[in-house]
Amino acid sequence: MFAKIKSVGLFGIESYMIDIEADVTGGLPAFDIVGLPDTSVRESRDRVRSAIKNCGFKFPTGRITVNLAPADKKKQGAVYDLPILLAILKASKQINFSFDNSIFLGELSLDGKIRPVNGILAMTITARQNNMEEIFVPYENSTEASVVDGITVYGISTVKELLNHLSGESKIEKTVFKNSKSHSALDFLDFSEVKGQLAAKKALEVAAAGGHNILLIGPPGSGKSMLAKRLPTILPEMTFEESIETTKIHSVAGILNNDSPLITRRPFRSPHHSVSLVGLTGGGSIPKPGEISLAHNGILFLDELPEFKRDAMEALRQPIEDGVITVSRASGSVTYPSSVMLVAAMNPCPCGMYGHPTKPCTCSKTMVSKYLNRISGPMLDRIDLHVEVPPVDYESLSSSSSEETSAEIRARVNKARQIQINRYKGTGVTSNSRLTPKMLREFCVLTDDASKYLNRCFDELGLSARAYDRILKVSRTIADLNSNEKIEKSHVLSAIRFRTLDRKYFTE
Ligand SMILES: Nc1ncnc2c1ncn2[C@@H]1O[C@H](COP(=O)(O)OP(=O)(O)O)[C@@H](O)[C@H]1O
Ligand SMILES: [Mg+2]
Repeated sequence: MFAKIKSVGLFGIESYMIDIEADVTGGLPAFDIVGLPDTSVRESRDRVRSAIKNCGFKFPTGRITVNLAPADKKKQGAVYDLPILLAILKASKQINFSFDNSIFLGELSLDGKIRPVNGILAMTITARQNNMEEIFVPYENSTEASVVDGITVYGISTVKELLNHLSGESKIEKTVFKNSKSHSALDFLDFSEVKGQLAAKKALEVAAAGGHNILLIGPPGSGKSMLAKRLPTILPEMTFEESIETTKIHSVAGILNNDSPLITRRPFRSPHHSVSLVGLTGGGSIPKPGEISLAHNGILFLDELPEFKRDAMEALRQPIEDGVITVSRASGSVTYPSSVMLVAAMNPCPCGMYGHPTKPCTCSKTMVSKYLNRISGPMLDRIDLHVEVPPVDYESLSSSSSEETSAEIRARVNKARQIQINRYKGTGVTSNSRLTPKMLREFCVLTDDASKYLNRCFDELGLSARAYDRILKVSRTIADLNSNEKIEKSHVLSAIRFRTLDRKYFTE
């Protein structure tokens, strides 16, 4: 007898519908799973066999063939345990329900409990897109699935509970979405705690408004880490689409918080400099997204940038530019989104005092240049804003003058970002940092004055074509913060200042 159950598969963060077919015939006892399963799926056999017995059913004695269709897609993980069990029970006529518009997924324990799996959000979205009416997921994953509108979600803890629900004996409650506002360390940070540092604060405001990459450079203790950690408090709000995209990645990585399954705050990831290449970019034998993808639509903060391994830094260049990262593995390549704002901080030399106004630097010239050269030219080139963070003097630190709050700065950032979203509607671009060369020409219109000035600087400073584009983008953001449709000379002037600092430290 033959039976079919619907489920959903996942590869990377892409998800697709799967039919799980079971056929039970007479003959010598055998249990095969076909349809490109990997070893983790083949192990389902043992779990399903035990779970069937331990739930009081009979494991069929004949020949059992389970097919996972479509057969050309590689299947991975333990999510198909539950649908395989149901298909076998149905094919051996031990249950008799019709499941045409229901999706089942979950890992089984030997005694018939249902265990959580990763990637539920992406899978539920796929189920919804394929007009499925209801989805049965492990209880622990149910709040995450409930984020998706238009499909009924049931969280189940055991096979028994599920079967009782299906037979109508005792119904399980639907899971209804509610996102309780979770508190994070972020709630207690504010820009008003940072005294002085007006130039650095302004630069961070520009970076937040346009989504630009930024490098903070200055001696130890000048407040670079302190400033960077407060950047999330002034970022523009996430759009709903951005929330879903980021949540999907965290769901696949299995690091979602059950109380607030939908990520509504831009992520701030700050991997330590000892992070491995795979930890940063993603991959591994069971592929997982790396830090750069977990930071999607938010910030990737690399503190003490020169301490990061060279290969890790180099591997970030392409995904920072493209907003996606592809990791290759033996069984095919996986692509994860990685649209991040890169924020980096560094001391200018090993002792940290190079360029310090009062303290002497004890490093030799070669030591300084060796240190700075750990950051490659192409990497530097991808950072739009280079900002010097000088040490704060005692007077500013101890002054009681009140500083601007994060809320005040964020209001300006939100306004500037809204201007960008409206201007680029329909193009897929939402911030100035992602403008294509063609869009740059269309949307970055300069006043005559500004244009003449930029041309002059271009000649005098010998700027590269890439630097020119970046200056235009940053000028666009500064103009947006000032609500100017045309870019003026003063905007260009500020933007150039953010690009020329590297000349003080780095030689091109
Ligand atoms: N502008 C500032 N206003 C208030 N406190 C500051 C400021 N700059 C530095 N500090 C204090 O100094 C500490 C060290 O700053 P930190 O951000 O770690 O420096 P860096 O990362 O540049 O080495 C901070 O935790 C903070 O207590
Ligand atoms: Mg620091």
